Amino acid sequence: MTPAVPDAEATLVAGLPAPGAVPEIISGRYELRDSIGRGAFGEVFEAHDRVLGRLVAVKTVPVARNPGPERRESVRRFQLEARAVSRLTHPNIITVHDFGQDEHFAWIVMELVIGETLAAALRRAGPPPLAETARVMSALLSALHAAHERGIVHRDVKPSNVLLEMGLEEGLGEVRLSDFGIAHTEADELTVAGQILGTPSVMAPEQLRGEAVDRRTDLWAAGVVFYEMLTGERPFKGAMPGLFHGIQHADPTPPTRLRAGLPAAVDAVVARALAKAQADRFADAEAMAAAIRAALLPEPAGRDAPPAPAAGPAPPVAGPAAGPPPPSRPGRALAIGLAGGLVLGFAAGQLADRALVAIADAGGAAREWLCRTGEAGR
Ligand SMILES: Nc1ncnc2c1ncn2[C@@H]1O[C@H](COP(=O)(O)OP(=O)(O)O)[C@@H](O)[C@H]1O
Ligand SMILES: [Mg+2]
Repeated sequence: MTPAVPDAEATLVAGLPAPGAVPEIISGRYELRDSIGRGAFGEVFEAHDRVLGRLVAVKTVPVARNPGPERRESVRRFQLEARAVSRLTHPNIITVHDFGQDEHFAWIVMELVIGETLAAALRRAGPPPLAETARVMSALLSALHAAHERGIVHRDVKPSNVLLEMGLEEGLGEVRLSDFGIAHTEADELTVAGQILGTPSVMAPEQLRGEAVDRRTDLWAAGVVFYEMLTGERPFKGAMPGLFHGIQHADPTPPTRLRAGLPAAVDAVVARALAKAQADRFADAEAMAAAIRAALLPEPAGRDAPPAPAAGPAPPVAGPAAGPPPPSRPGRALAIGLAGGLVLGFAAGQLADRALVAIADAGGAAREWLCRTGEAGR
């Protein structure tokens, strides 16, 4: 049993070796306990900080003895993640306490979030009440705005990277944006032209094409999160190459057609967030948050007094647009979902001869794999 956020939608990197066993104590100080998540670059543990006598989360990445270029890059990216996040002080961004490296492992020590990911919450309880959606989106966009103002584009905004801390009586809990593992900074020497990183079903058109990303790329992904919170579905689904084509060219079904009782204004907000051209999207995260609040919250709250992000429990929403009642609090151990994510790290030029294939695993959840066209087409 773990008190921490269960790994809901790990981001995977094709081709990386599975991380090996990690030591019981790191840096002579952090006693590793339960594994609470695993994905792209390594494994996340709950740990006890002997010096400060508190629980923390430790994200580890194995360092190979003779690392190939991919592994070297993943460790350098990891360091970049620690640096990028530690520059950000924001109530809705995970706090990084420490970073270190020895000959076997690199690690990031961060605050331990006790709760669940937004992905797990959505799977467990479906779309939340509209006021909850407004609150979570406001907090997420506030976090993104802070990152963007520091020149950091997250690039992997998705429900499984949004941690919801328990503590509220009802609702989804306080929001912490995490996993800046593939974040792009202005001074990012690791960003190779044409390199593609991200999780396909939340990736913006320009990101999938391997073109330059900017803050509006994150706003697309935030639009995908918004869509999922409203409807319980992703706007673009399925396997490559259909997914690629849909993201580039198709207009997603307007949310009001998928869920009865949604305010009509949400369709325009979603259409703008998911505009194919960056120039047609919201200019920044604050503008998008204001539009979401105006669409979702009853007046006058939407116009005169938008709630501050992370301002605590949102008032219950009454009426037909309120959606299902707030979910009951889960126990500490939450069912671990397996919806798949994927980091792609290949040259854009190779895109034509590669494809993503969605594979249903035994548990019925979807995983996405990177493979050459025709190789694993089951
Ligand atoms: N600070 C934290 N507190 C609690 N759980 C966490 C924390 N950071 C990560 N996790 C869990 O570990 C999983 C993987 O962490 P993440 O940083 O997203 O790495 P990856 O790059 O592997 O996706 C998350 O989905 C979450 O379930
Ligand atoms: Mg992640």
